[in-house]
Amino acid sequence: MLKDSEGTVDIDRDDFITSLGGAEAVARMDHEARADAIEEYRANQLEGATAKPKGQTVAEVEAQIDTRGYRRGVGKLFIAEQGTVTRLPPMPARPTLIDFFERRFQSTQHVLQSASLAQRGGASEEVVLACLLHDLGQSLMRTDHGWWSAQIFEPYVSERVTFAIRYHQALRFYADPAAGYEYPELYYKLYGVDYEPPPHVAAAYETARRHPWYGDARLVTTNDLYAFDQTTVVTLDPFVDLIGRRFKQPPEGLGNDNTPVAHMWRTLATPDAPL
Ligand SMILES: [Fe+2]
Ligand SMILES: [Fe+2]
Repeated sequence: MLKDSEGTVDIDRDDFITSLGGAEAVARMDHEARADAIEEYRANQLEGATAKPKGQTVAEVEAQIDTRGYRRGVGKLFIAEQGTVTRLPPMPARPTLIDFFERRFQSTQHVLQSASLAQRGGASEEVVLACLLHDLGQSLMRTDHGWWSAQIFEPYVSERVTFAIRYHQALRFYADPAAGYEYPELYYKLYGVDYEPPPHVAAAYETARRHPWYGDARLVTTNDLYAFDQTTVVTLDPFVDLIGRRFKQPPEGLGNDNTPVAHMWRTLATPDAPL
Protein backbone atom coordinates (compact mmCIF):
# COMPACT_ATOMS: atom_id res chain seq x y z
CA MET A 1 0.00 0.00 0.00
CA LEU A 2 1.30 3.47 -0.85
CA LYS A 3 0.88 6.43 1.43
CA ASP A 4 0.44 10.15 0.95
CA SER A 5 0.58 13.04 3.39
CA GLU A 6 -2.97 12.36 4.63
CA GLY A 7 -2.35 8.69 5.40
CA THR A 8 -3.12 5.54 3.50
CA VAL A 9 -4.34 5.80 -0.07
CA ASP A 10 -5.72 2.76 -1.76
CA ILE A 11 -4.05 2.96 -5.15
CA ASP A 12 -2.91 0.35 -7.61
CA ARG A 13 0.85 0.18 -6.98
CA ASP A 14 1.77 -1.35 -10.37
CA ASP A 15 -0.42 1.08 -12.28
CA PHE A 16 1.05 3.99 -10.31
CA ILE A 17 4.66 2.92 -10.94
CA THR A 18 3.94 2.36 -14.63
CA SER A 19 2.38 5.82 -14.86
CA LEU A 20 5.66 7.30 -13.61
CA GLY A 21 7.79 5.43 -16.13
CA GLY A 22 8.69 2.28 -14.20
CA ALA A 23 10.44 1.23 -10.99
CA GLU A 24 13.79 2.77 -11.94
CA ALA A 25 12.23 6.18 -12.57
CA VAL A 26 10.49 5.97 -9.19
CA ALA A 27 13.77 5.01 -7.47
CA ARG A 28 15.40 8.19 -8.81
CA MET A 29 12.67 10.41 -7.30
CA ASP A 30 13.17 12.05 -3.92
CA HIS A 31 10.62 11.81 -1.14
CA GLU A 32 8.89 15.08 -2.02
CA ALA A 33 8.60 14.25 -5.73
CA ARG A 34 7.02 10.89 -4.89
CA ALA A 35 4.51 12.54 -2.56
CA ASP A 36 3.57 14.98 -5.33
CA ALA A 37 3.23 12.14 -7.82
CA ILE A 38 0.88 10.23 -5.50
CA GLU A 39 -1.19 13.36 -5.04
CA GLU A 40 -1.47 13.87 -8.77
CA TYR A 41 -2.27 10.20 -9.38
CA ARG A 42 -5.07 10.36 -6.82
CA ALA A 43 -6.51 13.55 -8.33
CA ASN A 44 -6.51 11.91 -11.78
CA GLN A 45 -8.29 8.87 -10.38
CA LEU A 46 -10.95 11.06 -8.77
CA GLU A 47 -11.40 13.00 -11.98
CA GLY A 48 -11.76 9.72 -13.89
CA ALA A 49 -14.43 8.48 -11.48
CA THR A 50 -16.50 11.63 -11.72
CA ALA A 51 -15.79 12.50 -15.35
CA LYS A 52 -18.80 13.17 -17.52
CA PRO A 53 -19.25 10.56 -20.25
CA LYS A 54 -17.95 11.68 -23.61
CA GLY A 55 -20.03 11.41 -26.73
CA GLN A 56 -22.93 12.91 -28.62
CA THR A 57 -25.73 14.75 -26.89
CA VAL A 58 -29.40 13.86 -27.28
CA ALA A 59 -29.78 16.83 -29.64
CA GLU A 60 -26.89 15.57 -31.78
CA VAL A 61 -28.36 12.07 -31.91
CA GLU A 62 -31.76 13.49 -32.91
CA ALA A 63 -30.17 15.64 -35.61
CA GLN A 64 -29.36 12.39 -37.48
CA ILE A 65 -32.99 11.26 -37.81
CA ASP A 66 -33.49 12.67 -41.29
CA THR A 67 -30.12 11.40 -42.50
CA ARG A 68 -31.42 7.80 -42.60
CA GLY A 69 -33.88 5.99 -44.84
CA TYR A 70 -35.40 4.16 -41.87
CA ARG A 71 -36.36 4.88 -38.28
CA ARG A 72 -34.27 3.40 -35.50
CA GLY A 73 -37.32 1.79 -33.89
CA VAL A 74 -38.00 -0.48 -36.88
CA GLY A 75 -37.97 -4.24 -36.16
CA LYS A 76 -34.64 -5.94 -36.93
CA LEU A 77 -36.31 -8.47 -39.22
CA PHE A 78 -37.60 -5.69 -41.47
CA ILE A 79 -34.50 -3.69 -42.22
CA ALA A 80 -30.87 -4.14 -43.21
CA GLU A 81 -29.08 -1.10 -41.82
CA GLN A 82 -26.52 -1.71 -44.57
CA GLY A 83 -26.97 -3.57 -47.83
CA THR A 84 -30.04 -5.64 -48.52
CA VAL A 85 -32.25 -7.96 -46.48
CA THR A 86 -31.94 -11.72 -47.06
CA ARG A 87 -34.36 -14.19 -48.60
CA LEU A 88 -35.94 -16.08 -45.69
CA PRO A 89 -36.45 -19.85 -45.52
CA PRO A 90 -40.11 -20.91 -45.52
CA MET A 91 -41.81 -21.67 -42.19
CA PRO A 92 -43.33 -25.07 -41.44
CA ALA A 93 -47.14 -25.36 -41.35
CA ARG A 94 -47.20 -25.44 -37.54
CA PRO A 95 -44.28 -23.31 -36.46
CA THR A 96 -42.76 -23.71 -33.02
CA LEU A 97 -40.72 -21.28 -30.95
CA ILE A 98 -37.61 -23.15 -32.11
CA ASP A 99 -38.60 -22.65 -35.78
CA PHE A 100 -38.84 -18.91 -35.16
CA PHE A 101 -35.46 -19.01 -33.41
CA GLU A 102 -33.88 -20.76 -36.36
CA ARG A 103 -35.63 -18.95 -39.21
CA ARG A 104 -36.92 -15.53 -38.16
CA PHE A 105 -35.65 -14.03 -34.92
CA GLN A 106 -32.63 -11.76 -35.27
CA SER A 107 -29.71 -11.32 -32.85
CA THR A 108 -30.37 -14.74 -31.31
CA GLN A 109 -26.74 -15.11 -30.24
CA HIS A 110 -27.24 -12.26 -27.78
CA VAL A 111 -30.19 -13.86 -26.00
CA LEU A 112 -28.55 -17.31 -26.09
CA GLN A 113 -25.45 -15.86 -24.46
CA SER A 114 -27.56 -14.07 -21.83
CA ALA A 115 -29.49 -17.25 -21.01
CA SER A 116 -26.29 -19.25 -20.87
CA LEU A 117 -24.73 -16.75 -18.47
CA ALA A 118 -27.84 -16.80 -16.27
CA GLN A 119 -27.84 -20.60 -16.25
CA ARG A 120 -24.15 -20.74 -15.27
CA GLY A 121 -24.90 -18.28 -12.48
CA GLY A 122 -27.53 -20.63 -11.03
CA ALA A 123 -30.58 -18.52 -11.96
CA SER A 124 -34.05 -20.07 -11.78
CA GLU A 125 -35.58 -21.68 -14.88
CA GLU A 126 -37.96 -18.73 -15.20
CA VAL A 127 -35.09 -16.23 -15.20
CA VAL A 128 -33.14 -18.31 -17.72
CA LEU A 129 -36.22 -18.43 -19.97
CA ALA A 130 -36.75 -14.67 -19.54
CA CYS A 131 -33.11 -14.09 -20.59
CA LEU A 132 -33.59 -16.41 -23.57
CA LEU A 133 -36.61 -14.41 -24.79
CA HIS A 134 -35.96 -10.91 -23.45
CA ASP A 135 -35.00 -9.07 -26.67
CA LEU A 136 -36.69 -11.20 -29.33
CA GLY A 137 -39.52 -8.68 -29.70
CA GLN A 138 -36.90 -6.40 -31.28
CA SER A 139 -37.28 -8.47 -34.45
CA LEU A 140 -40.76 -6.99 -34.67
CA MET A 141 -40.21 -3.56 -33.11
CA ARG A 142 -37.23 -2.07 -31.33
CA THR A 143 -39.01 0.90 -29.74
CA ASP A 144 -40.35 -0.14 -26.32
CA HIS A 145 -38.99 -3.62 -26.97
CA GLY A 146 -39.54 -4.80 -23.39
CA TRP A 147 -43.28 -4.39 -23.80
CA TRP A 148 -43.35 -5.90 -27.30
CA SER A 149 -41.22 -8.84 -26.23
CA ALA A 150 -43.36 -9.55 -23.17
CA GLN A 151 -46.55 -9.26 -25.19
CA ILE A 152 -45.70 -11.79 -27.89
CA PHE A 153 -44.82 -14.39 -25.25
CA GLU A 154 -47.66 -13.61 -22.82
CA PRO A 155 -50.00 -16.50 -23.77
CA TYR A 156 -47.20 -19.08 -23.64
CA VAL A 157 -45.10 -18.46 -20.52
CA SER A 158 -45.74 -17.66 -16.85
CA GLU A 159 -46.58 -14.14 -15.70
CA ARG A 160 -43.32 -14.09 -13.80
CA VAL A 161 -41.36 -14.61 -17.02
CA THR A 162 -43.20 -11.82 -18.88
CA PHE A 163 -42.74 -9.53 -15.87
CA ALA A 164 -38.97 -9.97 -16.09
CA ILE A 165 -38.99 -9.46 -19.86
CA ARG A 166 -41.24 -6.37 -19.78
CA TYR A 167 -39.39 -4.55 -17.00
CA HIS A 168 -35.85 -5.34 -18.07
CA GLN A 169 -36.17 -2.51 -20.61
CA ALA A 170 -36.81 0.13 -17.94
CA LEU A 171 -34.32 -1.34 -15.47
CA ARG A 172 -31.53 -1.05 -18.04
CA PHE A 173 -31.57 2.73 -17.47
CA TYR A 174 -31.16 2.53 -13.69
CA ALA A 175 -28.03 1.35 -11.93
CA ASP A 176 -28.26 -1.07 -9.03
CA PRO A 177 -24.70 -1.39 -7.74
CA ALA A 178 -25.79 -3.84 -5.00
CA ALA A 179 -26.94 -6.18 -7.76
CA GLY A 180 -23.78 -5.50 -9.77
CA TYR A 181 -25.54 -3.47 -12.44
CA GLU A 182 -24.22 -0.15 -13.78
CA TYR A 183 -25.65 2.15 -16.45
CA PRO A 184 -24.47 0.71 -19.80
CA GLU A 185 -21.78 2.66 -21.69
CA LEU A 186 -23.57 1.66 -24.88
CA TYR A 187 -26.58 3.76 -23.92
CA TYR A 188 -24.52 6.97 -23.94
CA LYS A 189 -23.87 6.19 -27.60
CA LEU A 190 -27.38 5.01 -28.48
CA TYR A 191 -29.35 7.75 -26.73
CA GLY A 192 -26.90 10.59 -26.10
CA VAL A 193 -24.88 11.36 -22.98
CA ASP A 194 -27.54 13.64 -21.46
CA TYR A 195 -30.48 11.31 -22.07
CA GLU A 196 -33.25 11.06 -19.47
CA PRO A 197 -35.68 8.13 -19.79
CA PRO A 198 -39.26 9.19 -20.64
CA PRO A 199 -41.95 9.23 -17.90
CA HIS A 200 -43.42 5.81 -18.76
CA VAL A 201 -39.99 4.22 -18.40
CA ALA A 202 -39.33 6.02 -15.09
CA ALA A 203 -42.77 4.88 -13.84
CA ALA A 204 -42.11 1.29 -14.96
CA TYR A 205 -38.83 1.37 -13.07
CA GLU A 206 -40.60 2.54 -9.88
CA THR A 207 -43.24 -0.20 -10.26
CA ALA A 208 -40.63 -2.89 -10.80
CA ARG A 209 -38.44 -1.65 -7.93
CA ARG A 210 -41.29 -2.15 -5.44
CA HIS A 211 -42.42 -5.49 -6.86
CA PRO A 212 -41.59 -8.87 -5.26
CA TRP A 213 -40.31 -10.07 -8.67
CA TYR A 214 -37.89 -7.15 -9.04
CA GLY A 215 -34.95 -9.51 -8.59
CA ASP A 216 -35.98 -11.54 -11.65
CA ALA A 217 -36.19 -8.50 -13.92
CA ARG A 218 -32.90 -7.21 -12.50
CA LEU A 219 -31.24 -10.56 -13.28
CA VAL A 220 -32.21 -10.13 -16.92
CA THR A 221 -30.24 -6.86 -16.90
CA THR A 222 -27.19 -8.26 -15.07
CA ASN A 223 -27.02 -11.10 -17.63
CA ASP A 224 -27.77 -8.75 -20.54
CA LEU A 225 -24.31 -8.81 -22.03
CA TYR A 226 -23.79 -8.39 -25.72
CA ALA A 227 -21.26 -11.19 -25.78
CA PHE A 228 -19.79 -12.56 -22.56
CA ASP A 229 -17.60 -14.86 -24.61
CA GLN A 230 -16.82 -13.71 -28.14
CA THR A 231 -15.19 -17.02 -29.02
CA THR A 232 -18.13 -19.27 -28.13
CA VAL A 233 -21.25 -19.70 -30.21
CA VAL A 234 -24.09 -20.79 -27.92
CA THR A 235 -26.66 -23.06 -29.53
CA LEU A 236 -30.28 -23.58 -28.57
CA ASP A 237 -29.58 -27.23 -27.61
CA PRO A 238 -29.03 -26.62 -23.86
CA PHE A 239 -32.41 -24.86 -23.69
CA VAL A 240 -34.63 -27.24 -25.67
CA ASP A 241 -35.77 -29.16 -22.56
CA LEU A 242 -36.40 -25.91 -20.68
CA ILE A 243 -38.53 -24.62 -23.57
CA GLY A 244 -40.43 -27.93 -23.49
CA ARG A 245 -41.16 -27.53 -19.79
CA ARG A 246 -41.83 -23.79 -19.63
CA PHE A 247 -43.16 -22.69 -23.05
CA LYS A 248 -46.73 -23.75 -23.86
CA GLN A 249 -46.30 -24.47 -27.56
CA PRO A 250 -49.73 -24.33 -29.29
CA PRO A 251 -50.25 -27.58 -31.26
CA GLU A 252 -51.65 -25.71 -34.28
CA GLY A 253 -48.47 -23.57 -34.44
CA LEU A 254 -47.60 -20.03 -33.37
CA GLY A 255 -49.67 -17.65 -35.48
CA ASN A 256 -52.44 -20.21 -36.08
CA ASP A 257 -53.72 -20.34 -32.52
CA ASN A 258 -56.15 -17.41 -32.44
CA THR A 259 -54.56 -15.77 -29.39
CA PRO A 260 -54.57 -11.95 -29.19
CA VAL A 261 -50.95 -12.04 -30.38
CA ALA A 262 -51.30 -14.61 -33.21
CA HIS A 263 -51.07 -11.85 -35.85
CA MET A 264 -47.72 -10.76 -34.39
CA TRP A 265 -46.31 -14.24 -35.00
CA ARG A 266 -47.80 -14.27 -38.51
CA THR A 267 -46.12 -10.92 -39.16
CA LEU A 268 -42.79 -12.42 -38.07
CA ALA A 269 -43.45 -15.46 -40.26
CA THR A 270 -44.26 -13.38 -43.37
CA PRO A 271 -42.36 -10.06 -43.10
CA ASP A 272 -42.25 -9.74 -46.91
CA ALA A 273 -46.06 -9.55 -47.21
CA PRO A 274 -46.85 -6.09 -48.61
CA LEU A 275 -50.05 -5.66 -46.63
FE1 LIG B 1 -33.35 -5.40 -23.98
FE1 LIG C 1 -30.53 -7.70 -24.21
